[in-house]
Amino acid sequence: MDIVRLMVLLAFSGTVAAQPVVPKDTLPERFWEAGWPFGLGDPPPSWGGPLHVDRITLGRALFFDPLLSIDRTVACASCHQPQAGFASPQALPPGAAGKRALRNAPSLYNRSLGALHSWDGKASSLQEQVVLPISNPNEMDLPLADALGRLRADAEYVKRFTSAYGSGPTEDRLADALSAFVFRLTLADSPVDRFQAAHDRAALTVEERKGLWIYESKGRCWACHSGPNFTDEEFHNSGIGIVDNKPEPGRMAVTGDVADRGRFRTPTLRGLVQSAPYMHNGSLKSLQEVVAFYRRGANKNPSLDPRLKPLDLTDEDARNLVAFLRALSRRSRD
Ligand code: HEC
Ligand code: HEC
Repeated sequence: MDIVRLMVLLAFSGTVAAQPVVPKDTLPERFWEAGWPFGLGDPPPSWGGPLHVDRITLGRALFFDPLLSIDRTVACASCHQPQAGFASPQALPPGAAGKRALRNAPSLYNRSLGALHSWDGKASSLQEQVVLPISNPNEMDLPLADALGRLRADAEYVKRFTSAYGSGPTEDRLADALSAFVFRLTLADSPVDRFQAAHDRAALTVEERKGLWIYESKGRCWACHSGPNFTDEEFHNSGIGIVDNKPEPGRMAVTGDVADRGRFRTPTLRGLVQSAPYMHNGSLKSLQEVVAFYRRGANKNPSLDPRLKPLDLTDEDARNLVAFLRALSRRSRD
């Protein structure tokens, strides 16, 4: 291939990659009926409250609708794609009008268990979080008043809001419907859960079992990726995103506390096979890269979390740890 054709091809593929897509809704029709999954511990108290199916399905329609973006090209699902574990396959996913999100879009599974949302915890409830991307200039770039105007001008949405809430669209109802949908997105019941919670030894292969042991022992992963959702929901500095010893503010942008510089929220380890690339800036492309990153002691910087030190792992340990992480993504019925 001559160099000119190669350059044209590269330029073209770059343009294609930057276009937002609006993926199809591939969830089972009544997905919430599957209930709280095995292995995820206790559900949050509101899980067992009244099930407002019309609110969940309204939130679902909104989630897949590009009407909520300024140029009608980007839906929530463009960055939180069902087939990508409700995360984005792009490090910094494209937003409306040729913009790009400033961070990687995290998986939306099991957010009902989180108290603070976003990589820096800027939102203290799901309701608060779900409307942020609509007016965010790098994401959907549509002022909330305009989003509500569009919904009020749409007879079908007015009908659905009225049947779910008694009357038409308001900001609170928009937030409630979107969060009602996100709240029901769960993932667990993996072979690891069968092994740990149901004592089914045959659920994991020998390699996966050895990987679980690395996670629990000299890998020290459990120190932060703890509990049934494999996250402490706390903020730690692992040096991701640090260039020339300059950490991004991270959690400090929210709290103003210098001790929070470069700290980001620990993400879940569930569903990783689908949700690559990893970390708040999408800088690690594979689970092998993630394990190599921890093995060398994460990224050195003045506020690195003291739990992150070079790990004494063999190549075989590293492979087994990856096998364990992959097992956390399978459903036990697969
Ligand atoms: C252009 C891409 C993009 C679009 C569109 C988008 N998001 Fe996000 N989403 C992100 C990014 C990036 C983050 C992380 C934000 C941060 O840390 O500052 C995020 C975070 C979230 C979180 C918090 C997850 C967590 O782990 O804390 C939720 C919930 C969420 N988005 C829901 C939605 C909903 C609902 C919509 C549609 C109204 C939406 N998103 C549209 C990119 C997007
Ligand atoms: C000191 C706490 C801490 C320890 C120990 C730790 N992690 Fe993390 N982990 C984090 C934080 C915080 C992030 C997000 C970092 C960021 O993006 O800035 C993260 C991100 C990840 C991600 C990316 C997930 C995603 O969706 O992007 C994976 C995978 C991961 N860790 C695996 C591991 C493994 C495997 C170990 C053990 C070898 C481990 N972690 C040890 C805190 C920790």
